[in-house]
Amino acid sequence: MSLALLSLAALCWGAASPEPTIQCSSENGPSPEWKVHHALTPGDLRELRVEPVKTRVAPEEHSLLMNISWILRADASILMLKATKICVTSKNNFQTYSCVRCNYTEAFQSQTRPSGGKWMFSYIGFPVELNTVYFVGAHNIPSANINEDGPSWSANFTSPGCLDHIMKYKKKCIEAGSLWDPNITACKKNEKMVEVNFTTSPLGDRYMALIQSNAVLGFSTVWKNKLTRTSVVIPVTGESEGAVVQLVPYFRTCGHDCIRHKGTVMLCPKTGFHNTLDNNRRVLGGWLPLLLAALLVATWVLMVGIYLLWRHERIKKTSFPDTTLLPPIKVLVVYPSEICFQHTVCYFTEFLQNHCRSEVILEKWQKKKIAEMGPVQWLTTQKKAADKVIFLLSNDVNTTCDGTCGRSKGSPRENSQDLFPLAFNLFCSDLRSQTRLHKYMVVCFKDADTKDDYSALNACPKYHLMKDTTAFCKELLHIKENVSSEKRS
Ligand SMILES: *[C@@H]1O[C@H](CO)[C@@H](O)[C@H](O)[C@H]1NC(C)=O
Ligand SMILES: *[C@@H]1O[C@H](CO)[C@@H](O)[C@H](O)[C@H]1NC(C)=O
Ligand SMILES: *[C@@H]1O[C@H](CO)[C@@H](O)[C@H](O)[C@H]1NC(C)=O
Ligand SMILES: *[C@@H]1O[C@H](CO)[C@@H](O)[C@H](O)[C@H]1NC(C)=O
Ligand SMILES: *[C@@H]1O[C@H](CO)[C@@H](O)[C@H](O)[C@H]1NC(C)=O
Repeated sequence: MSLALLSLAALCWGAASPEPTIQCSSENGPSPEWKVHHALTPGDLRELRVEPVKTRVAPEEHSLLMNISWILRADASILMLKATKICVTSKNNFQTYSCVRCNYTEAFQSQTRPSGGKWMFSYIGFPVELNTVYFVGAHNIPSANINEDGPSWSANFTSPGCLDHIMKYKKKCIEAGSLWDPNITACKKNEKMVEVNFTTSPLGDRYMALIQSNAVLGFSTVWKNKLTRTSVVIPVTGESEGAVVQLVPYFRTCGHDCIRHKGTVMLCPKTGFHNTLDNNRRVLGGWLPLLLAALLVATWVLMVGIYLLWRHERIKKTSFPDTTLLPPIKVLVVYPSEICFQHTVCYFTEFLQNHCRSEVILEKWQKKKIAEMGPVQWLTTQKKAADKVIFLLSNDVNTTCDGTCGRSKGSPRENSQDLFPLAFNLFCSDLRSQTRLHKYMVVCFKDADTKDDYSALNACPKYHLMKDTTAFCKELLHIKENVSSEKRS
């Protein structure tokens, strides 16, 4: 009886032989099959695909891995197939290389699945970093013999940055604010003021809210170090309805490179303020005490309003000297080539153009001219044309530049000429002259130390951007006023 059952089971097993699955483990060296000569080897893959997948490693933490899937070619050589080996090379700041070998648990009996369709497998592994180019190659085992061209398949895969819907779960992105939703609302209170509300984050303690249409209409810095809804009234110098609010956060790990958010300025809904006044007038009849109280409140509100207006005028006057009619200041910005261009230099240029009415001259924008004139001639000409020469320094070269910066595509150190030392040497004699020194400034984002080689720069006025912003702009605009009054006189 039991014997009959056993044989029946064996029959069933034989009829439905299990489908091959894969068992993968790392194999960085050559495969053992390499050492043996194979008369017949399997063909290559039909297709190879890579995509990132999110896996939860802890309730609040995600890890990102590659989902590498491949399809086998439906031909007779599949009978020889034992395993598939996948190797991944990443090309970020340094190159890494690692392989896995996936054994098929059973020998293939047919060119296609019993259910029809091609054989397809997928392996999840290889951690994915931000903004990195990966080269994924795969070949079947036993591979071609030594001195024979091995069939193989490869795919390139460039991982996205923190804005991607999967990458945003990386710890580094979360720390840069990828999951923070400031939920910005902004409205035009009147011709001179815009009210901006947003939710702050515990990741940092400082925000800059800018109102801009074509030019910057106004900005304000907000200090808050926990999660809370906050409201700020920003004085503006122009039509603000429909303008853009840009919220720039400064979080601990990303500094000025954090993810920014935008909103739109609407019209504020009419408040009940006038209505209550009107109502009070209507019930004027017998409610003298109430009327008196309302009058008192109204007077108080008016006084506060006048005071606030007066203060804003004063603030505006101090931060924006009357420069509307003056031509822009020409500023030549020189920076060491290891600085992260996209973020640091672009950000600074944007800042100069938007806040300090400057016209910026950058080496990066005049490559052709430099090639024609030669760097020395170009620098000398630009120095003459510029009102100010700014040496932009940044100590935090690596941390600001990896990840969100997109530096992975070829090293800019090689293809960008470093004009910084040349500029420094050319302008060095000016730095020793009291009369010509006023043309130079040093700006740094964090507490950058002037390198010993460039210690002569210590003579220049030095500003920490985002800390001495007002002083910095004043210094720039002040110079312009002097220059234009000289020209006028
Ligand atoms: C795959 O097969 C090779 C060669 O037979 C063996 O060395 C390896 O341990 C196997 N790997 C797994 C995960 O079974
Ligand atoms: C991996 O990719 C394959 C093929 O696209 C898909 O069938 C599979 O569901 C993916 N796995 C995960 C965990 O997303
Ligand atoms: C992948 O990129 C490398 C260099 O970046 C290139 O040489 C190669 O042709 C690319 N391969 C594919 C399959 O796109
Ligand atoms: C954003 O703020 C508005 C107004 O405060 C609120 O109604 C809305 O629910 C908030 N949205 C989110 C996603 O928090
Ligand atoms: C901002 O918040 C204040 C206080 O909650 C509210 O009165 C005001 O309407 C809000 N403004 C905007 C533009 O959301």
